[in-house]
Amino acid sequence: MLIKIIHMSAGLLVIILFYVQAVMLLQRRRAAQAFPVHSVQPITGLAKGLKMALHICWTIVIVAGLYLLANLPGIYPYWLMAKIGLFVLAIVFSIFSFRGKGSKRRQNISLIGAAICYALILFLVIVKPWGYVLTGHANQPVSGSASEALVHPN
Ligand code: HEM
Repeated sequence: MLIKIIHMSAGLLVIILFYVQAVMLLQRRRAAQAFPVHSVQPITGLAKGLKMALHICWTIVIVAGLYLLANLPGIYPYWLMAKIGLFVLAIVFSIFSFRGKGSKRRQNISLIGAAICYALILFLVIVKPWGYVLTGHANQPVSGSASEALVHPN
């Protein structure tokens, strides 16, 4: 349970840190347009700290997520599989968004891509659609989910 709480908290932090960094990037861009490039502060201090914090949270989410995955009783909900795929995509998009190289267009597309992925992840962990899994060619309810309550009401 503790690992799950750590996983969920780090996951939430990842999403918050992504949006904070995205806003900072857009503000920095606006400043760079309004003032000469050399007068815009390089990315140090808080912004650098946030970048490091995001990397640390990614690591915690992955390590705790893999631990939880290894402890599932051979049942893998569809929302979980979709979430893991989206998370990988979100990391790739985030790297292209914040690494400072590449065109503005690519950065914009990556920012939108990552924002959509994180929004979809939030939707999946809250709504948990298709709470059924396929094991041994039979659909089973996910432990602890609403679908199980329908099968075993008490
Ligand atoms: C930003 C990314 C992520 C967020 C916000 C997130 C959030 C969550 C939340 C809220 C839960 C609890 C769901 C519930 O039982 O009600 C959960 C469970 C879980 N997550 Fe993640 N997660 C993320 C990424 C990942 C990744 C990358 C992995 C795999 C490496 C992973 C694996 C798991 C597993 C195995 C469970 C337990 C499912 C169960 O007990 O039925 N998660 N996650």
